[in-house]
Amino acid sequence: MMEGHETTKQYGRGGRRAALCLLLPPLLVLVVLKTDFLPQVGHFRETGFNKFTEGMVHKVSSLGLDSARWQEQSLFEDSKKDAGAPTMSKLTCNFSHRYSDTCTMEGDLRIHGVSASVYVVSSSTFQPENQTITVRPYTRKWEQATMSRIREVSMRSTAPAPYSFVIPPKCTVRHDVPAVIFSTGGCGTNFFHAMTDLIVPLYITAHEYNGHVQLLITDYKAEWVAKFRPILAALSIYPVIDFDADTAVRCFPSAHVGLESHMILGIDPALSRNGYTMMGFRDFLRSIFSLQRAWATPVSRSSGYKPRLVFVLRRHSRELTNEADAISAVADLGFEVVAAGPEDASDMAKFAGVVNSCDVMVGVHGAGLTNMVFLPHNGTVVQIIPWGNMKYPCRFDFGDPVPDMGLRYVEYEVTAEETTLKDRYPRDHPVFTDPSSIQRQGKVWEYFLEGQNVTLDIDRFRGAMQQLYLSITTD
Ligand SMILES: *[C@@H]1O[C@H](CO)[C@@H](O)[C@H](O)[C@H]1NC(C)=O
Ligand SMILES: *[C@@H]1O[C@H](CO)[C@@H](O)[C@H](O)[C@H]1NC(C)=O
Ligand SMILES: *[C@@H]1O[C@H](CO)[C@@H](O)[C@H](O)[C@H]1NC(C)=O
Ligand SMILES: *[C@@H]1O[C@H](CO)[C@@H](O)[C@H](O)[C@H]1NC(C)=O
Repeated sequence: MMEGHETTKQYGRGGRRAALCLLLPPLLVLVVLKTDFLPQVGHFRETGFNKFTEGMVHKVSSLGLDSARWQEQSLFEDSKKDAGAPTMSKLTCNFSHRYSDTCTMEGDLRIHGVSASVYVVSSSTFQPENQTITVRPYTRKWEQATMSRIREVSMRSTAPAPYSFVIPPKCTVRHDVPAVIFSTGGCGTNFFHAMTDLIVPLYITAHEYNGHVQLLITDYKAEWVAKFRPILAALSIYPVIDFDADTAVRCFPSAHVGLESHMILGIDPALSRNGYTMMGFRDFLRSIFSLQRAWATPVSRSSGYKPRLVFVLRRHSRELTNEADAISAVADLGFEVVAAGPEDASDMAKFAGVVNSCDVMVGVHGAGLTNMVFLPHNGTVVQIIPWGNMKYPCRFDFGDPVPDMGLRYVEYEVTAEETTLKDRYPRDHPVFTDPSSIQRQGKVWEYFLEGQNVTLDIDRFRGAMQQLYLSITTD
């Protein structure tokens, strides 16, 4: 509908600079319609204008009458628009983030989903050698297998007039808010990956627009979008766009391709433009799901009230074989226990309420612990670490992020006596004598994540939980 006033003002000066350039010997202004022609432009520029012209003539005449007329019309309309102050664009990319490649751009941006193209029109940052920049908009840059599933988005810059040989497709829809393009093709609906790979990065990238931002999703997963709809709706007041199926040419005043990501389940306020924090992120979630408790406050043991503890239970692997005993042990200590299997946790909004009503979350290492994001501030997370020298990898996912969330972290590392691996391997097997050698063979998943259940030593576990009970209650 309209270009932002600020944008117009900011680039007005650039526009006059471009007008000065017109005094230079005029060059042929050519029109290219087919996007698949674009990569050749660089080549033609190198080999001289004559050849370029010949190639163009051939290309244009082969497009047929209708296209030619369309081309003429778009040329007139674009030149009419350009007769005013042309909008100059600017593209900045950062390929040195650890988690993701990101590009931000502003000016005259034309986004075409089906061809995964973003035209950065009349770009002041145009360089012939990188007029096309591609990014896979996902935040696990170091994981080749994951990244290979992510669709590449191309940013195609054109030089400012009169040096541009390319007229990008004409807008069919105009938006007056920023665009954010990202992929849901990475890790399915796994709650840990959804949070750390996408939801937290979306918050860092898009929350500053207060809902006035258009989300465009490549590798669109309907199930993912459905599951996280409440969060997406809080980030953007507009329905999300299925990028790959979108035939429109959408024009935006600014855009982000790729999401900013700082760390696992975390935000570095120093890297965030707005000084965002994980505490702030959790407040954001609390408002989305109307969660009542901002803070967990110590309960007095003599009051008759009990601190609430949610026991996150797993199935199939890293399952507690004696979960009933474990639950009654903590209940005997004075906790009010909520046992939650995967089926209870699958309704995110409902489970968010359950978690928020609790002071403590306990569970064996796994995606279910990600629900800690819904605990009240000053709540406690107890991670049960399975056998296999897994302390550091487990801390990386669910230990290190905890303090920044305003939560407290307790670890319970299972012993060789507490793993069902002992029913399968003799005690002189490397699984017990040298678990690191299994890790070095890249078999952590097979042996230590998928390959074991946990049988807690109830006395040992009770001791650890009693200490916790005393630390979060008062006389
Ligand atoms: C394009 O390449 C130039 C020179 O190599 C570089 O300075 C510039 O930052 C690049 N632009 C982008 C948007 O990556
Ligand atoms: C690019 O990202 C790195 C890593 O986060 C950061 O240190 C650097 O300042 C960024 N560069 C620019 C130009 O923003
Ligand atoms: C863990 O326990 C479940 C349920 O008894 C069982 O189906 C699964 O095979 C066990 N996994 C391992 C690795 O022992
Ligand atoms: C956080 O919990 C600890 C332990 O229960 C307690 O000592 C402290 O006062 C709590 N802090 C707040 C702000 O409630």
